[in-house]
Amino acid sequence: MISLKNPDQIAKMRKSGALLYEVLQKLREAVKPGVSTAALDAYAEQLIRKNHAIPSFLHYEGYPASICASVDDAVVHGIPSEKQILKEGQIISIDCGLVLDGWQADSAFTVGVGEISAEAQSLIEITEQCFWKAARQCVAGNRLGDVGYACQSWAESHGCGVIRDLTGHGIGREMHEDPPVYNFGTPGKGLRLRKGMTIAVEPMISAGDWRVTCDADQWCYRTRDRSLCSHYEHTIAINESGLPEILTYPGFVWKEEE
Ligand code: MF3
Ligand code: CO
Repeated sequence: MISLKNPDQIAKMRKSGALLYEVLQKLREAVKPGVSTAALDAYAEQLIRKNHAIPSFLHYEGYPASICASVDDAVVHGIPSEKQILKEGQIISIDCGLVLDGWQADSAFTVGVGEISAEAQSLIEITEQCFWKAARQCVAGNRLGDVGYACQSWAESHGCGVIRDLTGHGIGREMHEDPPVYNFGTPGKGLRLRKGMTIAVEPMISAGDWRVTCDADQWCYRTRDRSLCSHYEHTIAINESGLPEILTYPGFVWKEEE
């Protein structure tokens, strides 16, 4: 069941989104060679709680941390560890969510650790572009197939793979609400988007094959061919104007080319 949000509810989600943006900005600055993913997790939890919010990932279906830290070929849901020390040249995707005053926000980015290869940098950029192409389609009257197609066509035209086993999702009082938001699709097909929908759009893009495997910990997904993977996510509201508002990127305004 899809729950539509009224403008007051979207205003609350705007506050959650703004806080998560601040948290992710700080985490981005903290990514350096020598830092453990567990240290990033502890920092995230501290920032969230200091701001009177709750880390939404912690204990979610038994998940043991406040962020997912997915390095190199890891797609999503990497569990932070003291033993995982970031090294120059790696890429790390940090996914984080919080609840403020009962309302959820969910967002992720991928960044290089120190200097990274041109190939890795390009994968990160293509993934962000996939997000913006998809987000641009999140207008009332469009369909979810338009959103998925925008992502898929951009990724595949750059020789990248779209992970299919994992999707974006509706979000609101719960982290995962209906509908699932696929990162691939057919224009004109799928659910019609409406004012008041709030969704997390999250392309997961590989430099090689899109197929994935899951680690023995039952959480961390990796590309089957061990190619690099990048993830980028924002929480979006289709607001009263019928246009997409990026709740986890306050102050963002659309530019013509996006
Ligand atoms: N943020 C993820 C998503 O986008 C969910 C994380 S799963 C958790 O759907 F278990 F880590 F919470
Ligand atoms: Co999400």
